[in-house]
Amino acid sequence: MNYPPEPFRIKVVEPLQHVSRTEREHLLKKAGFNIFNIPAEKIYIDLLTDSGTSAMSDNQWAGMMLGDESYAQARNFFHLQQTVQDIFDIPIVIPTHQGRAAEHLLFSVLVKPGDVVPNNIHFDTTRANVEYLGAQALDCAVETAYDPDAPLPFKGNMDPQKLLDAIRRNKGKVPLVMMTITNNSGGGQPVSMENIRTISTICREHRIPFFFDAARFAENAFFIQQREAGYQDKSIAEIVREMFSYVDGFTMSAKKDALVNIGGMIGLRDETLARKIKELLILKEGFPTYGGLAGRDLEAMARGLREVLNPEYLNYRVGQVAYLGERLREIGVPMLVPFGGHAVYVNAKELASHIPPEQFPGQAIVIALYRLGAIRAVEIGSLMFGKRDASTGKWIGPRLELVRLAIPRRVYTQAHLDYVVETFRQIIEDTSILKPLKIVEEPPFLRHFTAKLEELR
Ligand code: F0G
Repeated sequence: MNYPPEPFRIKVVEPLQHVSRTEREHLLKKAGFNIFNIPAEKIYIDLLTDSGTSAMSDNQWAGMMLGDESYAQARNFFHLQQTVQDIFDIPIVIPTHQGRAAEHLLFSVLVKPGDVVPNNIHFDTTRANVEYLGAQALDCAVETAYDPDAPLPFKGNMDPQKLLDAIRRNKGKVPLVMMTITNNSGGGQPVSMENIRTISTICREHRIPFFFDAARFAENAFFIQQREAGYQDKSIAEIVREMFSYVDGFTMSAKKDALVNIGGMIGLRDETLARKIKELLILKEGFPTYGGLAGRDLEAMARGLREVLNPEYLNYRVGQVAYLGERLREIGVPMLVPFGGHAVYVNAKELASHIPPEQFPGQAIVIALYRLGAIRAVEIGSLMFGKRDASTGKWIGPRLELVRLAIPRRVYTQAHLDYVVETFRQIIEDTSILKPLKIVEEPPFLRHFTAKLEELR
């Protein structure tokens, strides 16, 4: 089994170091068993995220040298704006330093305390930004999104009935509907064009603005081309245009499919909304033509947005991710299927079935991967989303306990992925390496980034 070979060759390399098992044990303790606290240099294969970790192309690096660092109206902004208009057919672009800044700005203008913001499944930063404003972040994903074993093509879809119920129950309190493409917290699963169309119609009928959280729009488009009837002969560019024709705007972390190390944006059709956001942007991020970024970053983003539409690249990209998933499944690792566009997800509930959710089975796997192979993965489960009910003391965890292995774009080779598979083999052979954990220190928001933990035995 192989995947489509890289449609590029390697021009620059970054050496990696091996750290001894003794040092890894020491580092784990020092990091409070939180993988976000391990120095990146002490990691061999970093699958923490596909965000900001892409290798840029020579064309993007060349563009960096053409950065116009003028404070206002820099040339690169106009290139980015033109690119967004060409690709998405959305007229207004507001750059931000990354995705969560875009979310914060958009929500600050639209969302009031007591509001409800539906999404298929909120990514943790959109959820936190909604909650920070005193509103409720409501997940309306189809039920199959929560079945890790259902091999369905579009498990990222939103359930139209759940959305309608939410709108009816919260009359006048739904300021916008978001849809995350691909659905990261639900396993990197795509949303179908049909679902986008349906949700868009519902939003229009109820006069509610409809937005994409568009971080992985190109991977979503590729899945539509591969899996949805009627789209096989359409180009990725055509599919992307159609997808975005159904929304009023989008927030985007450009650190994923725009193939850059930093950047984000808001795309809008509504001038009035844009004006309000720009007022806040100047206060928080910077002048509206740079939004917290350097001119060179805007240029790299514009070039990345075009590159990512290359079907050969997407075929290799999604193929490489599926290769890792398939090999892991072969050796008996319980995997969420189908494999996501940017990551594969291990079903931690099953692999660490001896550990209850409140003792963080996913984090136990994350720790074992570092301990055994200096690999960094991320828990998406009870550590990220679980909490104890204040009155009953009962643990309320998310419906899935997952470990995400996210693959940086254009960074690792097949041999690197095979090394990951061999490390998992050691876990499969002796799951007693997976140890329960407890939290000893935690912040009020986005706990998983900074919490400290201890192993229970
Ligand atoms: N939306 C989605 C769907 C995301 O996956 C992310 C980030 C964001 C918004 C926020 O963007 O990081 O640029 O501020 N996801 C990263 C991840 C962190 O690892 O999945 P950001």
